[in-house]
Amino acid sequence: MRLYVNIDHVATVREARRTDEPDPVRAAELAERGGADGITVHLREDRRHIQDADVRALARRTGTVLNLELGASPAIVRIAGGLKPHQATLVPENRREITTEGGLALARSSRRLQGAVRRLQDAGLRVSLFIDPTREAVARAAELGVPAVELHTGRYAHGWRRGDAALRQLRDAAARAKRLGLAVHAGHGLTYENVQPVAAIPELEELNIGHSIVSNAIYWGLEEAVRRMKELVVGSRLSVVGQPQSPTENRKP
Ligand code: PXP
Repeated sequence: MRLYVNIDHVATVREARRTDEPDPVRAAELAERGGADGITVHLREDRRHIQDADVRALARRTGTVLNLELGASPAIVRIAGGLKPHQATLVPENRREITTEGGLALARSSRRLQGAVRRLQDAGLRVSLFIDPTREAVARAAELGVPAVELHTGRYAHGWRRGDAALRQLRDAAARAKRLGLAVHAGHGLTYENVQPVAAIPELEELNIGHSIVSNAIYWGLEEAVRRMKELVVGSRLSVVGQPQSPTENRKP
């Protein structure tokens, strides 16, 4: 299981003052020292946190791998194709939202989305689609010919204290996606309190976690915040799978 750390909110703090600190590249280095297997950033159309220069610097200097989240807009897809991150995760994007609110609307799957998938794959990127954990979305993602999906864990994360229907839905979607030959990732709203049942889903191979890690970095420092999250993730896998997976499996050659 890989832990990718989303550092968008390091840039959110910087942009609050439009200054040059804190620096996402420095944050990426600390996250990697804490055990991150990859660094995730979202280059939004409104550039509210991560800027183009951040992605260029991270593409050059990330010691592990860079997962770039992006909407299907042609301008952003072009930037991604030029920077060649290890992975491009397509997400829905809406200017008014506080954060990504749901999975991609695959049932109404637009030419725009199909075009974005094709252009990113033509540029040699591994493409993942951020989807709701439903049977329909998993089936549609497989039809689109991508190698990976990221299951939206928001419903689980917001209601995990009130029963396990959302967890069952995630388990079911993960098993279906795996059967269809997709690599299965997950993320959104995961915290130190709620991550373990998700991390224990055996088909999952990557988690993307941002807000909770960056929030707790205010108390513990970023390296330690990542280390503690990694311990929880690896710990839940050890009890289920019975063997650790190499934390260096994703290092750049
Ligand atoms: N995965 C995707 C596709 C996202 O858009 C986000 C939020 O940017 C995350 C994971 C991480 O979510 P959180 O910040 O709530 O951990």
